[in-house]
Amino acid sequence: MILVTGGAGFIGSNFVLDWLQQSDEPVITLDALTYAGNVHNLDSLREDPRHTFVHGDICDRALIDRLLATHRPRAIVHFAAESHVDRSIHGPGAFIRTNVEGTFTLLEAARAHWQALPADEKAAFRFHHVSTDEVYGSLSADAPAFTETHPYEPNSPYSASKAASDHLVRAWFHTYGLPVLTTNCSNNYGPYHFPEKLIPLMIVNALAGKPLPVYGDGLNVRDWLYVTDHCSAIRAVLARGRVGETYNVGGWNEMPNIEIVRTVCALLDELKPDPAGPYSRLITFVKDRPGHDRRYAIDARKIERELGWRPAETFATGIRKTVQWYLDHPEWVAQVQSGAYRDWIAAQYQPADAQAA
Ligand code: NAD
Ligand code: DAU
Repeated sequence: MILVTGGAGFIGSNFVLDWLQQSDEPVITLDALTYAGNVHNLDSLREDPRHTFVHGDICDRALIDRLLATHRPRAIVHFAAESHVDRSIHGPGAFIRTNVEGTFTLLEAARAHWQALPADEKAAFRFHHVSTDEVYGSLSADAPAFTETHPYEPNSPYSASKAASDHLVRAWFHTYGLPVLTTNCSNNYGPYHFPEKLIPLMIVNALAGKPLPVYGDGLNVRDWLYVTDHCSAIRAVLARGRVGETYNVGGWNEMPNIEIVRTVCALLDELKPDPAGPYSRLITFVKDRPGHDRRYAIDARKIERELGWRPAETFATGIRKTVQWYLDHPEWVAQVQSGAYRDWIAAQYQPADAQAA
């Protein structure tokens, strides 16, 4: 079996659901259920004997020791993190705790467990660390995309905490020989994406007739990857990746934010027209994110060359599925928009910062 941390979050829950569709290998999900974790994402597995959900914190060493001793997973796939850049600007402490201390705790527990395994299990064991392209910093418009050897230049508290966790993972390989794998992925989108991030926020705001807040000039560029393509990349790396290596994962799909927002509006105009007029009327330029990275782009040739992985979805197919998923799941949206969610949106998007498009 495998142990998945953060498996109730956006990517983690997609990964767990996808894993159990592709194989019968059991999964233990460990998740602290922060504001971003939603156990209902895994409701379809409630009666499934292949899945065990554990509500707990990756900083809890005793709990992790117990889980490893009891279940003896052959791999840990580590998603658990604080993941939202804007929140890291408002409150970096939680990012240091979970992303740095949590990863350290998990590495130490994994090391103790791995060292005591019999030779065959020891050789097969893997610690897969899920990281981000944001550790590489920002690219100028014409710079080549990030390769695995690009220097680390994190610019936000979030990316700095992820960079620190990557360095710990690397050190545990070089110093102790722990069999680690790291993937650095670009922006994901798809089902179960918490509506504080760009794409789901635009969908849910548009459907509610609320402003669509675009930071700065809207020309910051991200490289978008449909979430199940990220899941298949992780499966490929876990199965065949070279121990100690890093693999960049991306969608070959760079796009400025304003284009993303216009695409979402056009799809909603087609799938759920608003009698009040095109959704693009709601686009509102707002104050920029402090230290906003201008451009990310992933060079995903290494994972293709070594492991034969390429994304299956184009942006056109992935974004259509995504918009349709949100239209089909109003109950999920309503459930995650709790009081705490409303407080965050009210604090982050001040009316005085907005300018109509
Ligand atoms: P998310 O915020 O949706 O989910 C994070 C999950 O981790 C939540 O379920 C949360 O409850 C859990 N968690 C937080 N702190 C915890 C703790 N101390 N102990 C146990 N569980 C805890 O994040 P996501 O977007 O699914 O990202 C998952 C991972 O992928 C993160 O490591 C992130 O850095 C990385 N990543 C995300 C993206 C993206 O576009 N979303 C891209 C590249 C890499
Ligand atoms: O690149 C991978 C990273 O992608 C992950 O490591 C992070 O966990 C994930 O949150 C994401 O980070 P970003 O900061 O790129 O994602 P976000 O959805 O917050 O923003 C995407 C772009 O859209 C970014 O340029 C900021 C902009 N934006 C975002 C929000 C929430 C807006 O213009 N308006 C908004 O309201």
